[in-house]
Amino acid sequence: MLLLAIETTCDETAAAVIRDDLAVLGAAVASQEAIHRRFQGVVPELASRAHVDRIVPVVDQALSQAGVALTDLNCVAVANTPGLAGSLLVGLSAAKSLALALGLPLVAINHVFAHLYACQLGEPESIFPCVGLVVSGGHSSLFRCDDALTFELLGGTIDDAAGEAFDKVATLLGLPYPGGPAIEAAARAGNPSTYAFPRSFLHEPARLEFSFSGLKTAVRYALPAGVVEKRATLEHRTVADLAASFQQAVVDVLVAKAVHALTATGYQTLCVGGGVAANAAIRSTLESAARRHGFQLHIARRDLCTDNAVMGALAWERFRAGWFEELDLDIHPGLMRDPKVRARQNPQNHTTTL
Ligand code: KG4
Ligand code: ZN
Repeated sequence: MLLLAIETTCDETAAAVIRDDLAVLGAAVASQEAIHRRFQGVVPELASRAHVDRIVPVVDQALSQAGVALTDLNCVAVANTPGLAGSLLVGLSAAKSLALALGLPLVAINHVFAHLYACQLGEPESIFPCVGLVVSGGHSSLFRCDDALTFELLGGTIDDAAGEAFDKVATLLGLPYPGGPAIEAAARAGNPSTYAFPRSFLHEPARLEFSFSGLKTAVRYALPAGVVEKRATLEHRTVADLAASFQQAVVDVLVAKAVHALTATGYQTLCVGGGVAANAAIRSTLESAARRHGFQLHIARRDLCTDNAVMGALAWERFRAGWFEELDLDIHPGLMRDPKVRARQNPQNHTTTL
């Protein structure tokens, strides 16, 4: 059985053909980095227009790579939440058109949960139950995942997401967009102990929330006087030390909170996905923490951390559960409105932000 998964939640247009044993037969991603770079961030209207141009060629590319025709498909799946409204609409319209024209079942995917499910690909055993940490441009969230269909939010960010902080700090340091890879590269030459940046809620184990806005502001105030006002270029050494110190603060918080979530749930497995999980410092620190604390660790393959349609393999879980959608399926840009998911708010939380 073959599934076509479509992903257009933000600025990547992606499609993948995935077999029901999770073998990936074809996968295509058209990145919009070049379009958004000069704005140092994603411009929603440009993103949705680019999706319109690219969606058909990207689907074609995934199908031809898989060596299959539309008529060989058994199911169409699409990420309809969360994301940019215009971008989500393009993928959803494409998926509905295909499902209607081909008479195929339509499955909805939650993009954030799919980031976690990327950890399942290539794993012979189920990764569930686990604690899930999603760190991306839009989300920094911890979930209790009892099984592939049950994701309960333990805590999210109360302000910026981790990836957002990387992108904003990169702009402050004069580094290109997207900021994550640029900061990671700059940080390699820097000393992470140069600046003592804040680590929010680090010593509050019961608080499974994140805050990166203060850290971003601390970087802003650590810049030499006049740099921002005069748009002056920073010394290479200063950029490296600021990048390394900032990255270390993010790593410390993410790893500590993930360990706290394991303790709180009693689960022995941690799964990590999302664009920021591509970061080598985060990966290696998580690996050391797993050895030290004795938990199982699955981090999404590096190429499956940033947005892609392969992680839409999650749709097979919903397909097997019979969770199909009508053609009036809508987008949900802001929240994981998924009546089928037993999402429950942790009473210790003050927010449901993902
Ligand atoms: O998951 P993703 O592709 O899109 C969202 O769902 O948001 O994540 C994109 C984010 C961007 O903020 C980008 O700067 C960050 O992931 N990112 C990284 C790295 N690669 C991408 N952050 C830190 N280190 C990286 N190597
Ligand atoms: Zn994403």
